[in-house]
Amino acid sequence: MKKFYVTTPIYYVNDKPHIGHAYTTILADVLARYHRLMGDDVFFLTGTDEHGQKVQQAAANGGMTCREQADRTVVRFKQLWQHLEITHDDFIRTTESRHTRVVQAILQDLFDRQEIYEAEYDGWYCVGCERFFMERDLAERQCPECRRPVECITERNYFFRMGKYRDWLIDYIQQHPEFIQPEFRRNETLGFLRQDLNDLCISRPKNRLAWGIELPFDSDYVTYVWFDALVNYISAPGYRADDGRFAKWWPADIHLIGKDIITTHTVYWPIMLKAMGLPMPRTVFAHGWWLTGREKMSKSAGNVVNPFDLIERVGVDAFRYFLMVEMTLGQDASFTEDSFIRRYNADLANDLGNLLSRVTKIMKTSCDSRVPLTEDPGSEEQALRDRVLDAVHRLAGCVDNFKIDTLLTHSADIVRETNRYLERTQPWILAREGSTAKLGTVLYTAAETLRIVSGILFPVMPAKMGELREVFGLPRVPVLDDLRRWGVLQPGNTVRPVPPLFPRLGMPVIRDGIESGAIEK
Ligand code: MSP
Repeated sequence: MKKFYVTTPIYYVNDKPHIGHAYTTILADVLARYHRLMGDDVFFLTGTDEHGQKVQQAAANGGMTCREQADRTVVRFKQLWQHLEITHDDFIRTTESRHTRVVQAILQDLFDRQEIYEAEYDGWYCVGCERFFMERDLAERQCPECRRPVECITERNYFFRMGKYRDWLIDYIQQHPEFIQPEFRRNETLGFLRQDLNDLCISRPKNRLAWGIELPFDSDYVTYVWFDALVNYISAPGYRADDGRFAKWWPADIHLIGKDIITTHTVYWPIMLKAMGLPMPRTVFAHGWWLTGREKMSKSAGNVVNPFDLIERVGVDAFRYFLMVEMTLGQDASFTEDSFIRRYNADLANDLGNLLSRVTKIMKTSCDSRVPLTEDPGSEEQALRDRVLDAVHRLAGCVDNFKIDTLLTHSADIVRETNRYLERTQPWILAREGSTAKLGTVLYTAAETLRIVSGILFPVMPAKMGELREVFGLPRVPVLDDLRRWGVLQPGNTVRPVPPLFPRLGMPVIRDGIESGAIEK
């Protein structure tokens, strides 16, 4: 049995979750579910990043303690994941002692080995990004990342000797093409590494920021939030706590991240691991952003889409499907009401939902609500069968290469093709004419296609595909071996009545305002 360890970024608890967070987590869930379908032993980790300036600021604004701020917000994330059918195996909060203990042990070890040293530092500091920048990196005296004003700060701090690992990292990235994906992100990191790499300031004096993990060797300081947060990927599977479990899961197979946090994951994190003597994760995959119009959807831009709102109108599965099919992994994608309705009506209401309702209706009226017997397949049936089995055959390749959108597009094409098959063979006329044998073959072929397609789509739409499968008396959860074979559906199985799986959306379902501004409650 292969193991598969997938992570999401751990999200800040300064505000409630939005579609950007939901997207990464759904993507991780879809990958986890595909790997489970393929028989892998899966560990899927998500969680929350609870320390640092952003959280301290949010707590102050809301008149709460930092812990209250974290405790309140974490509930929203957990509720949303439950609502979105997320099947994570662990949820880590960086304020938990199982995490803080490991961060402190790592810091002490690196300090003892002089990988961390103390020095006076003056530099340009951005409060929003919690980062120091070199003068040459500033953009017109502003933060190059968020364009807000920076402050010149002089203070004693602790530094991680990151710079000396630069050549090693360049070499590692060049030797391991699968390490940073997509390829253009890899080139971006190599470009970044062409300049000098500074040592990393890993402390914050408590008088400036009190909310963090105390340095074990100097109680006047807390740990820089990124040095704390990245460690979640090893503290959760048991680093320095449960050697057996840690050896089973580490290294991670994939860290899924948005493109906004690439440097921390492809420069800081590998160097931290190297200094600790740990192996590298197999892949860091950076996806693009969901945009509203042309802008990144973000809390600070005030243009976020509230997932709860949206799901109430369209259902969880359609929402998951849209996010997965509409974003080519790596690229940005735009979220608009129009594209949502168009996609939903085309793929789900008109094609998949319609195919199911056609097949079940005729089975009800002409086959006594049972799966009919089939004759030997003719060339049309064989072509359809080959097509759908070929999609199953390609499933693992699509999943391993992060081409979920391609896999979904294949399935949608097959469903469309099956509807065309029905239009050509006209089972409603076969039924009227009493051509029972041919009618059985046509309906059986369409139902088998639905069985296999529902299996392929199950990791993306688990609830709806589970319902679809139950219509034909199939187990809700598919097994890959059954998807690889034609003829699994048992003639004689009772066909249960089903309300429309995806009712057509005739009018805007998402409130106006996505284009123009915030729609959060
Ligand atoms: N806490 C850090 C991550 C630490 S990981 C060790 C952080 N948190 S965050 O709450 O800001 O979440 C960032 C992540 O949310 C992005 O990397 C991305 O996965 C997701 N997204 C946030 N906005 C997004 C979009 N508009 N579109 C797509 N995903 C985005 O950074």
